Amino acid sequence: MKVLLTAGPTREPIDPVRFLTNRSSGKMGYTLAGAFLHEGHSVLLISGPTNLDVPDGVDFIPVETAAEMHDAVARYIGKMDVAVFSAAVADYTPSGVRSQKIKKSGDTLTLELVRTADILGSAREKFGFTGTLVGFAAETENLEANAREKLVRKQCDLVIANDVSQPGIGFDSDENQVLLVYPDRTETLPRASKVELSLTLVDAIVGIKKLRVDG
Ligand code: PMT
Repeated sequence: MKVLLTAGPTREPIDPVRFLTNRSSGKMGYTLAGAFLHEGHSVLLISGPTNLDVPDGVDFIPVETAAEMHDAVARYIGKMDVAVFSAAVADYTPSGVRSQKIKKSGDTLTLELVRTADILGSAREKFGFTGTLVGFAAETENLEANAREKLVRKQCDLVIANDVSQPGIGFDSDENQVLLVYPDRTETLPRASKVELSLTLVDAIVGIKKLRVDG
């Protein structure tokens, strides 16, 4: 199968030396890329800035901003069988990038932010994607209910939900613990290394594809 994966954080520039970002290391997306490859699939990884090595054999598009990630996904998703969105995309970006470094002046500084495009939320209606669509949900409360709301609103086949308020899992850690939220059920997976978990996730995602094909 042809698999598109988004991973890592985005960086939203404020001025020539500053940006808004988040704590995503890219590990979850990169280990998934490795696991899909290991199982014989072809992988296009669209990633924000990380310190990770791209697994050998993975096609790679580096991006910085949410807008760049949106454009790369829009360009390639039509060719894919499966799309998995593990990136931590900025929901807001500065309304304009200052051309000069912002100087210190008053005691407070107000930045105006505007919404970014919801890339996962665009997959079905805007990009016309008909393959297996998998999102993530990074939550700090009401994990299952919030993930299920995203599953429905973004028209996913599966949402992989992690509670990012728990120490040692989620953002910038080597382990994760997730719920698999399907339209008709929820499964709880045990805490595991992201490498080990990724193999389980690939089986789950490939299982959805098989169900669709076999009826
Ligand atoms: O990178 P690591 O350090 O290994 O950390 C892994 C992780 C915690 C980043 C990962 O497991 C994870 O939860 N990724 C999703 C992070 C996120 O931004 O979740 P969200 O609940 O805000 O977004 C829901 C879904 O919509 C996600 O699939 C996200 O990629 C997608 N999205 C969100 C906003 C946006 N503008 N476009 C999107 O595509």
